[in-house]
Amino acid sequence: KILILDFGSQYTQLIARAVREANVYCEIIPYHKPFTFEPGLKGIILSGSPFSVNEEKAPTVDIPAFVQQLPVLGVCYGAQLTAKEFGGRVDKSNKREYGRARMQKQKEDVLLNNITDGSQVWMSHSDSIVALPDGFEILATTESIPVAAFRKMTTDTCPLYGLQFHPEVYHSTEGKKILKNFLVDICGCSQSWTPASFVNETVAQLKQQIGDAHVIMALSGGVDSTVAATLISRAIGDRLHGIFVDNGVLRKDEFEQVLETYRNIGLNVEGIDAKQLFYSELKDKTDPEAKRKVIGRLFIDVFQEEAQKVSGVKFLGQGTIYPDVIESVSVHGPSQTIKSHHNVGGLPDTMHLELVEPLRYLFKDEVRKVGLELGIPADMINRHPFPGPGLAIRILGEVTEEKVALLQQADQIYIEGLKKHGLYTSVWQAGTILLPVKSVGVMGDERTYEFTVALRAVTSVDGMTADWAHLPYEFLADISNEIINNVRGINRVVYDISSKPPATIEWE
Ligand code: XMP
Repeated sequence: KILILDFGSQYTQLIARAVREANVYCEIIPYHKPFTFEPGLKGIILSGSPFSVNEEKAPTVDIPAFVQQLPVLGVCYGAQLTAKEFGGRVDKSNKREYGRARMQKQKEDVLLNNITDGSQVWMSHSDSIVALPDGFEILATTESIPVAAFRKMTTDTCPLYGLQFHPEVYHSTEGKKILKNFLVDICGCSQSWTPASFVNETVAQLKQQIGDAHVIMALSGGVDSTVAATLISRAIGDRLHGIFVDNGVLRKDEFEQVLETYRNIGLNVEGIDAKQLFYSELKDKTDPEAKRKVIGRLFIDVFQEEAQKVSGVKFLGQGTIYPDVIESVSVHGPSQTIKSHHNVGGLPDTMHLELVEPLRYLFKDEVRKVGLELGIPADMINRHPFPGPGLAIRILGEVTEEKVALLQQADQIYIEGLKKHGLYTSVWQAGTILLPVKSVGVMGDERTYEFTVALRAVTSVDGMTADWAHLPYEFLADISNEIINNVRGINRVVYDISSKPPATIEWE
């Protein structure tokens, strides 16, 4: 295992992902959080930071103590802090260095093994190391800075390295190779962190944690809950009780199809048809937040009622993933902001259940790989994200059963079309929005006065920012035709070309 000490850089998660991609397990912790030098710990990486090492409140750690025990690699701020802590000098540069630079090797070292001289590296710093401490050696420079990479070579401590650039970002073309050199050749990591090894270890751990108790879990049809449930099911079989609620605002045929997939995977899941309850409580609700609240509250009611029918339940399973739980260091000071995340808000407190979260340390792409390893069908693994309140926030204004039926038809044509044309996986999320607007059309000799749907498709990495997907005109034309010709009640189709920000992905 590798520990990444976070000083608040926006790239810290990318370091973790790059380490995981090298099949080495790692965890991010805030720099000020104590840790132990347990036997499996092989090395430490110090992240970048929005701070300058010369600021009075600059965060610091005891690098000399670390390096007595383990190899250490400082990245950007981490490198500057290392240089400063050992008596070197870091100054504000006249020229800030951002973006592309070329690394010129000055010395051979295992860290830069197989790295091309002149390799492109990505910089993002305004301070520079101007003098290295005694006993440190320059490994590489760039056109504008004297110290792009350094090492401290002594026999009495473990190896200590610093990189002024960011090896973890995509634009450092050989950055991942440099990280791999550090992990494998310097720290001695075995690269055995694979989906298969994760499955084996996790199933064994779950067996231990759960014993002969029962686990209940709400399933949504989404990737995270499905993969988490499958892992738990591998450990305890039918003592996992999954509950999948039809809230009336799922996609067309989704309830039946998802239940069928669960059965094929071998999950013990109960499907609860609560459509009418949701429709009756959604009646007259037009405000988006009010609709969300109704759906959230009813969901908990239904789930709780079903859960009470199962005896011996001690645990609540959840599909929480790593980005939801990383404690990141706030940019505004060394205090920490902890993001907490409950897929089923409010439940654990009232039901006195312990949490089982087998995906707590995985990134999304790793969850997908584990899912495939578990034999979950690829079309389940590659599903777009779908909001908890479902089509209710894609029907602007009041939600009725009739409007849901209308939107479901249009939505199905659109999503199936994306799949048929090979566009589904190139889009991060797609959906159809029913606008509360009727307009005039003409069909044959008849005048129509019907609803409009908007098609939405975005590209994104995490849903925080998004661009509208530049879908081919021919495809949009086909979908528009198909919807208007087949869905009675819709006579106009428009395409949403707003990015986020300033718009959002959903319309409500
Ligand atoms: P926005 O519309 O905020 O959406 O750009 C970003 C992502 O979040 C999803 N979303 C939700 N998911 N409950 C959810 O579980 C919600 O109330 C909710 N609102 C938006 C949205 O689908 C997109 O993936």
